[in-house]
Amino acid sequence: MLPDLHTAIPGPRSRELAARLRRVESRNVTLLGERWPVFWERAEGVNVWDADGNRFLDFTSGFGVTGLGHSWPPVREALRLQSSKLLHAMGDVHPAESKVELCEMLSELTFERWGAGRGKVVLGSSGSEAIEAALKTAVLHTGKPGVLVFAGAYHGLGYGALEVSALEFFRTPFARQLGGFALSVPYPYCFRCPLGHRAAPALEGGEFPQCSSGCLEELQRRISMELGRREIGAILVEPIQGRGGDIVPPRAFLQLLRRICDQEKILLVADEIYTGLNRTGRLFGCDHSEVVPDLICLGKALTSGFPLSACVGRATVMDAWPESAGEALHTSTFLGNPLGCAMALAALREHARPETAAKVQAAGRHLRAVLQKISSPRIGNLRGAGLLVGIEIIQADGSPDHTLAAHCVVEALQEGIMLLAGGQHGNVLSLAPPFDLAAEEADFLAAKLVGML
Ligand SMILES: Cc1ncc(COP(=O)(O)O)c(C=O)c1O
Repeated sequence: MLPDLHTAIPGPRSRELAARLRRVESRNVTLLGERWPVFWERAEGVNVWDADGNRFLDFTSGFGVTGLGHSWPPVREALRLQSSKLLHAMGDVHPAESKVELCEMLSELTFERWGAGRGKVVLGSSGSEAIEAALKTAVLHTGKPGVLVFAGAYHGLGYGALEVSALEFFRTPFARQLGGFALSVPYPYCFRCPLGHRAAPALEGGEFPQCSSGCLEELQRRISMELGRREIGAILVEPIQGRGGDIVPPRAFLQLLRRICDQEKILLVADEIYTGLNRTGRLFGCDHSEVVPDLICLGKALTSGFPLSACVGRATVMDAWPESAGEALHTSTFLGNPLGCAMALAALREHARPETAAKVQAAGRHLRAVLQKISSPRIGNLRGAGLLVGIEIIQADGSPDHTLAAHCVVEALQEGIMLLAGGQHGNVLSLAPPFDLAAEEADFLAAKLVGML
């Protein structure tokens, strides 16, 4: 179903809500402009309706949460049933049954499925918290405080997660309060190779790039050098960099990190908060490289719409945490909330079906194919896996064009399309639509972008 707009965007009701919000919310949170935002009222599948009754196509899945579709009926039903019995329990003291079931299912879908024994879980409420649980696990297991991360990484904004996020915009104002235990090396960003190798051809459109120019060997040298200098206990990586610009590294990249971690006896931590749960056309991003991490962090799509996250680790690694003697070292009030657990169980049952990944692969192929047909010198690179797709917008000289990317995002909203821009320079149009995106909806987006680029 294509968009259906009743009023100018934003309409009168959205404008009124924006004026009220301006008075009471910290001014740094919501961008309130002439043409932005609209206020969401309801959503279903790929569609979002705003407070003025306009219907939009959501190419963001609400920050990657609703891959199964907004208000996905089985998740709604699980929420309804659970809410009629129990809204809240005492997560680390007297938990609900649904927490047990969720931890079991997370173990089955990760380490048991990978043939790596049982997984053990620490639940949290946000992606940032799952990362922080992983950081704590790493230091308990290895005794080494340092964490190697990658330029452009986004792992969340809590202080632990911010320390390992390598985007200066978020770090700079708070740099003096950060822990200083993270160290960053370049990410294999083939379009703009940070190691000075040949750029990937424009408009490549395929899934995983092949690097034949020695970039990974150079990266290996740099990582080895850093490991020799500092006490590093973990390498934390996004299998595909999301917020950093939907950057797809060569498949061999994760395999290289796995080898290094094995040699050095340190932990490989996969941040799959964005790439996990079929977003990239496989259950997890690391499945593309057939790499098994030591810890995996999940969030966003885990529940399809409730703040719940998980850090799942190999049992042997997680057992670095001491047995609880009545006071958990890492917990929070809402840990294992029964509503979130019930929703996650319903969502995971669907994610576990091979048909779900197959659907994402097919929809992703079509989306990339129609975008690839857009002939514009302003598209420097089209990349992605499954339904995580980035369109890198450039100026005539090849430098990043964040102004045009921002223009596209605002103009798209006027056409009934929700998009976001990301990347270190804000010049990557980032697409992460729900998995049921119809071919005509992808075609509609491409037709509108032609007029903007
Ligand atoms: C890869 C990745 N890690 C961590 C996070 C942080 O998650 P949250 O915003 O739920 O704290 C995000 C959020 O966008 C993310 O994309």
